[in-house]
Amino acid sequence: MKSINNNPIIKVDNLVAKYGPKIILQDITVDIYPNEVTVILGGSGCGKTTLLKNILRLIEPYSGSIKFWNEEVTTMDEYQFNEKVLNRIGMLFQAGALLNSISVKENISVPLEQHTKLPEDIMERIIRTKLHLVNLDHALELLPSELSGGMKKRAALARALVLDPDILFCDEPSAGLDPLTSLALDELILNLKHQLNMTIIVVTHELASINRIADKIIFLDNGRMLFAGTLEAAKASGIKAIDTFFNAENH
Ligand SMILES: Nc1ncnc2c1ncn2[C@@H]1O[C@H](COP(=O)(O)OP(=O)(O)OP(=O)(O)O)[C@@H](O)[C@H]1O
Ligand SMILES: [Mg+2]
Repeated sequence: MKSINNNPIIKVDNLVAKYGPKIILQDITVDIYPNEVTVILGGSGCGKTTLLKNILRLIEPYSGSIKFWNEEVTTMDEYQFNEKVLNRIGMLFQAGALLNSISVKENISVPLEQHTKLPEDIMERIIRTKLHLVNLDHALELLPSELSGGMKKRAALARALVLDPDILFCDEPSAGLDPLTSLALDELILNLKHQLNMTIIVVTHELASINRIADKIIFLDNGRMLFAGTLEAAKASGIKAIDTFFNAENH
């Protein structure tokens, strides 16, 4: 057993998230453990994307505490948060979010240009390595409009990986992908965990994917946390909403 797994890498306590006056998340308390895949589950509109955006302060939390590596981040200024946290994180957004007017290579180079001072030839080597990782070697000079949906997702994942993050957030990485592409993406996620010791937080509805990759499950329902624990414990929890979700597999 690895002892590092005893300390959470991210600790969220009593997080409340709002858009304007509307409360979206109520008292969310979750621990994310290093070198595990944590899957965030719950119905459409329950607040999964909002939780990720609050943890990364893309939306400022209304109240509560968020710690990365045991350090409170909600009180950090933008510079500190960038240096101490964002530099070590990759994020694959739900909507892909590649810039359409520039090539795949230029898209992936954006984080490198923002966060490093590497010479161009080194940058290109890194970009080629990441594209190879997601099986998109041929896409270097293509525009996003020349890619299929699944290729766009994989190019966005290459961009999320370009700074070799310690923690990777993926919001619905396999939605809309065919089963084989989805399987390849899951295998990549497991490789990142096993070979690069990455900690990975994934929002997904795909049961096959959850069964392949999840170590831990966080189940949200209507802005509240219904369950947090192992995949096995989730399946054995007896909580109706969770049973309904996992039993959809048998119908
Ligand atoms: N920018 C915003 N302004 C106002 N309300 C928002 C905004 N973004 C999301 N919401 C609302 O917050 C709630 C949670 O949305 P969120 O996107 O977090 O859900 P989700 O669980 O990720 O859903 P899905 O599975 O469909 O992606 C929804 O009621 C949504 O309408
Ligand atoms: Mg979402």
